Amino acid sequence: MRLDRLDHDQLLARERELDSTYRRFRDADLALDLTRGKPSPAQLALSDGLDAVGGGLVAADGTDTRNYGGLDGLPEARALGAALLGVLPEQVIAGGNSSLTLMYLYLLNAWLYGPAGPGSAWRDSGTVRFLCPVPGYDRHFAILEDLGIEMINVAMTDDGPDMDQVEACVRDDPSVKGIWCVPKYSNPGGQVYSDTTVDRLGQLGTIAGSQFRIMCDNAYAVHDLDDDPPRLASFMDACRRHGTEDTLVLFASTSKVTRAGAGISFVSSSAANLATFRKRLQILTIGPDKVSQLRHVRFLRDLDGIRAHMRKHAAILRPKFGLVQQQLSDALEGAGIGSWTSPRGGYFLSFDALPGLATEIVRLAAEAGVKLTPAGATFPYRRDPDDANIRLAPTFPELSELNQAMQVFVACVQLASVRRQLAV
Ligand SMILES: Cc1ncc(COP(=O)(O)O)c(C=O)c1O
Repeated sequence: MRLDRLDHDQLLARERELDSTYRRFRDADLALDLTRGKPSPAQLALSDGLDAVGGGLVAADGTDTRNYGGLDGLPEARALGAALLGVLPEQVIAGGNSSLTLMYLYLLNAWLYGPAGPGSAWRDSGTVRFLCPVPGYDRHFAILEDLGIEMINVAMTDDGPDMDQVEACVRDDPSVKGIWCVPKYSNPGGQVYSDTTVDRLGQLGTIAGSQFRIMCDNAYAVHDLDDDPPRLASFMDACRRHGTEDTLVLFASTSKVTRAGAGISFVSSSAANLATFRKRLQILTIGPDKVSQLRHVRFLRDLDGIRAHMRKHAAILRPKFGLVQQQLSDALEGAGIGSWTSPRGGYFLSFDALPGLATEIVRLAAEAGVKLTPAGATFPYRRDPDDANIRLAPTFPELSELNQAMQVFVACVQLASVRRQLAV
């Protein structure tokens, strides 16, 4: 039933009903958390075999993984990253435990020293701006904020960033030096970029300056829920078609394949970009944790091994994502008080409340013992201009906890929306 079709008395009756439901939740002393985009303990247990892999600690080329060295990572780890990212092993550096660290280092290097070597430092070119598809990943925005890079919101569509807006910004403003992309199962909406979007991103380098970079974070490259997952076109191929390979920097990790924060990270780019990046990396470290790399390669083997492993994750996650969709549609479908995405993979979904209500919904839920990601967190500077977006993270809680948390969530959405309708 659409709220805007109810008369004042009907709205008052509905508010009383929802308020009493809400009070019941509030008095139940719940302590639930829908903020954590983390694997659940059951998912982590899928990789317990990592500790049992045998075969010694000497890599295929004779490298003793217990010792220093090997800045680019083990050859077999680079090959694994190449399979994950759909590129060649020589285009990959296999790093330490976090792709976010590589992203930060890449941008810090671009800011201080330049993405294309001497003379290209962003900090020497006045104001630097970056395109940020919204809603997006708060830690991407935090890196830019830390470096003093100005963020410009770009709308997300079902096909990826609004490319008309992206192209206009790049064409009209030379201070725009890059764009963030999470091309498969975007955080938080779960969108997969269409072939056309990937091609147009590949073409950006033809209208942007030589210092422009696409920060393409493919964190959810293999995190499918379905047996017949959507296919992401190759960014590297698109850039090659348009002769813009130097604009592309790809990232991925095994954080949500094996162990969060204890796996392998990968960065891939053109030979020229990797050579520039290595200059910084070699100051930062003598080499990555090759023991972990070797264990990962022996445990996951190759892309087929990764896919088989990810099917086990999917079996755990499908019921959780299904439950969230069911609760949202049972309670809110057709009410005109919210819309949400239906991802086919990844770790999140994105909910849009009526404009101006996200902060209130998060507050109501917190008072009823359900922690939600703070309103605004999915936008640069933590400012959602519509105060509408809320990120939901169904992976960590047990099904029963998720069920309860979602009941509270939809009750809060309904209550805040009815009160808003009564106030107009
Ligand atoms: C889009 C995205 N990129 C990167 C990360 C973190 O990756 P890592 O653990 O490799 O640093 C996350 C974690 O939530 C993420 O959602």
